[in-house]
Amino acid sequence: MSENSSSIEKTVVLELTNVKKTIRKKEIIKGISLSLYEGEVFGFLGPNGAGKTTTLRMIVGLIRMTEGEIKIGGYSVKKDFVKAMESVGCIIENPEMYDYLSGWENLKVLASMEKGITKERIKEMVSLVGLEKRIDDKVYTYSLGMKQRLGIAQALMKRPKLLILDEPTNGLDPAGISEFRKLIRSLAENENLGVLVSSHILAEMEVMTDRVAIIRQGSIVKVTSVENIVREKGITYVVSDVEKAKAVIEENFKGQVHIKGSDQLVAIINEKDVPDINQKLFAEGVLIQYVSKNQKSLEDLFLELTAGDEIV
Ligand SMILES: Nc1ncnc2c1ncn2[C@@H]1O[C@H](COP(=O)(O)OP(=O)(O)OP(=O)(O)O)[C@@H](O)[C@H]1O
Ligand SMILES: [Mg+2]
Repeated sequence: MSENSSSIEKTVVLELTNVKKTIRKKEIIKGISLSLYEGEVFGFLGPNGAGKTTTLRMIVGLIRMTEGEIKIGGYSVKKDFVKAMESVGCIIENPEMYDYLSGWENLKVLASMEKGITKERIKEMVSLVGLEKRIDDKVYTYSLGMKQRLGIAQALMKRPKLLILDEPTNGLDPAGISEFRKLIRSLAENENLGVLVSSHILAEMEVMTDRVAIIRQGSIVKVTSVENIVREKGITYVVSDVEKAKAVIEENFKGQVHIKGSDQLVAIINEKDVPDINQKLFAEGVLIQYVSKNQKSLEDLFLELTAGDEIV
């Protein structure tokens, strides 16, 4: 979904304004601003040491920000900490669990600390994360993936508006990752939950998130919708006459054409127009040698934007 085209008013659940963090005179986070909406899965992507975990920890108040403002559900993390935390669930460090209790008992302990969490709500969470069959087993018998699921159930119990997950798929197998992705998407869509998720797995970000912020050395270098990345892909044409082809396409179709070489151009056009474009080019006497879809991926973009980075 593009940022401005939606006619439905979306509610901002998380807002960062010029957030900075200095540790021992070193500025680690250099002024991050972003808004995250209800029902949106927002990815945080960056190389090791870029500042993802530090930012997430500031959002949930595990560490203080040096400068700037963070609001969750409209409440300032600095001024209204308790209220701000009411609408956020998170898994940043290992979720706290009692290994010698069952999954169900763990959830009950947590429920007893919050107001108004019914047995039905706990059951609902268990089924949402797909742990029905193992919920009465002791947590020490759980696999990593099962613990992750229990962690998510814990984080969601108090019906947060925002869920924050730092590298949640670390250690999950491909099937686990795929199920996790579906769970996150369904939570965003069905519970209108905003999700902020950091991950190194680019392919994963591409299928799971609506928008991605690329973070590098403590700054956001780009925020892009995954849809935009797809749109940036374009179509490569190898033709007999690039100038003429460019003119024909731009005069008759929506989009732009960039000449890339003596016989090559890239057309940023609607893919659906390709057959008509081909026909038109042919009719105008331009011979097409080759047409191919560019596969510009999030990975390409990420590497372009973070090229040459090393851990400092
Ligand atoms: N307590 C601290 N003291 C000193 N430096 C710190 C501290 N916490 C974080 N840093 C530094 O801040 C930078 C950002 O670290 P952070 O953990 O946020 O990165 P990250 O993006 O989460 O990386 P990764 O992908 O490896 O998890 C790193 O250079 C790190 O060494
Ligand atoms: Mg980290």
